[in-house]
Amino acid sequence: MIAVIGRQRRVGAALALALVALSACQVTIKPAGTTIAPANGALRIVAPPGAVLADTVLTYDEAPDPPVGAGVIAGTSFDLSPAGGWREPIAVTLGYHPADLPPGVAEADLQLVRFVGGSWTVVEGSAPDPATDSVTARTKVLGRLAVASGACDPAAPSSCALRPLADRAGLRMGATLDPDGLADPAYTGTLAREFSALTPENALKMYATQNQRGVWTFDGADAVVDFAEAHQMVVRGHTLVWSQDQFTPAWVKAITDPEELRRVTEEQITTVMSRYRGRIHRWDVVNEPLATLGTGRSGSVWDDLLGPGWVADAFRTAHAVDPEAELWLNEYGSDWVPGKHQALLALVAGLVAGGVPIHGVGLQTHRISAAGPDRAAFEQQLRDFAALGLQVAITELDVVTSPTDPQAFEKQAGAYGRILDACLAVAACTEVTTWGVTDASSWLDAQGIFPPPTRPLLFDGAYAPKPAYETVRSELALGRP
Ligand code: XIL
Repeated sequence: MIAVIGRQRRVGAALALALVALSACQVTIKPAGTTIAPANGALRIVAPPGAVLADTVLTYDEAPDPPVGAGVIAGTSFDLSPAGGWREPIAVTLGYHPADLPPGVAEADLQLVRFVGGSWTVVEGSAPDPATDSVTARTKVLGRLAVASGACDPAAPSSCALRPLADRAGLRMGATLDPDGLADPAYTGTLAREFSALTPENALKMYATQNQRGVWTFDGADAVVDFAEAHQMVVRGHTLVWSQDQFTPAWVKAITDPEELRRVTEEQITTVMSRYRGRIHRWDVVNEPLATLGTGRSGSVWDDLLGPGWVADAFRTAHAVDPEAELWLNEYGSDWVPGKHQALLALVAGLVAGGVPIHGVGLQTHRISAAGPDRAAFEQQLRDFAALGLQVAITELDVVTSPTDPQAFEKQAGAYGRILDACLAVAACTEVTTWGVTDASSWLDAQGIFPPPTRPLLFDGAYAPKPAYETVRSELALGRP
């Protein structure tokens, strides 16, 4: 306790009062949601709903002399008991003083570590939050915990998050960002630690930016771009024209005059791209021009009123607005819908041959089961676009699992591995982005097509990395051939 009091002085009077009130280093966890000692340099324990039902005593002591090694940051170590375990995972947050970080240690690389068997091991799912100078992880096992620098040694990939390994491999590793999650440090910490690229899941779509004619909303998209800049991440601008009537604002679908639709489309592209010019350098100009489960055109209001030339026009408009921007065409299901890859290739080859300013093709790669894709065939699809002189990317990766298959996660890891491996083998494949972060919130469960839970992503609902995460990490560590 003396050591804790010593620390209080550094963190100010408010915390001193809070700790004096906690006699003998005992913390009484009250039901759900209790937060203790919120300040930097101390610990905060958040009990998730239902984990701790009645008052429960949890004790903590600051380790007298924290064992050094594994990048432990001085003055962040606590002994938390019961060391043996806890009924449900609880979120443990440890603070640090930025001024005490060794030179060269980035706050985004900090992680929670546990001292077991004479050495420190990373608590999986650690999420640093430089905004609050703290690191959070969910864990059932307590014991001695500390904050450590996650300095990444590619020879020991388990010491690395995905992001530094992807950087070394020359690949953007991305995920979607839903601005509703920005208040959750586990969410923001995981994004900043693991990913170098962000795609707003919905915030830039027409139904989000201009759901009523002339009424523009950019709050969500602004929040995504602000977050990305604060964490040195790049943004994929998804998307300017989504050629699916189901996702088109009613007022646009009601347009019957081709000139009017042309004007509205130019206005949408111009307004959105101009707002983020210099901040978003890469746009999905056209999304899903082909039929979802077929090989023909999607049959949207754009196809109906303007004919197939609207796709090229959208790219020309975008290029005129921001000649520096990378312009992409993004498509669903070309990896598994029969004939769709050929149809997409023909469409894109036509654009390239026509001198249309297009720089990349995004393959969404929503995998509807953990089987496949055939590794070689998938790589060949990537190469087909590279051969047109374009970049190619996996832009919306998720892999549906069967809720009843005990091997589901191992099979899923295999699918993620084949996809990563194929992308890394093709120099023009510059990005892999997952469509979501944790299994707790995937669009696939909301959609109701597959039996829930689909658990399609790299992290489980408690931010613990799944086998697929380990596989992706190993692939990234191997790098490009
Ligand atoms: C989805 C979002 O994830 C959902 O939240 C939303 O309700 C509908 O759109 N292809 C795309 C993405 O290009 O924009 C879609 O995102 C998923 C399929």
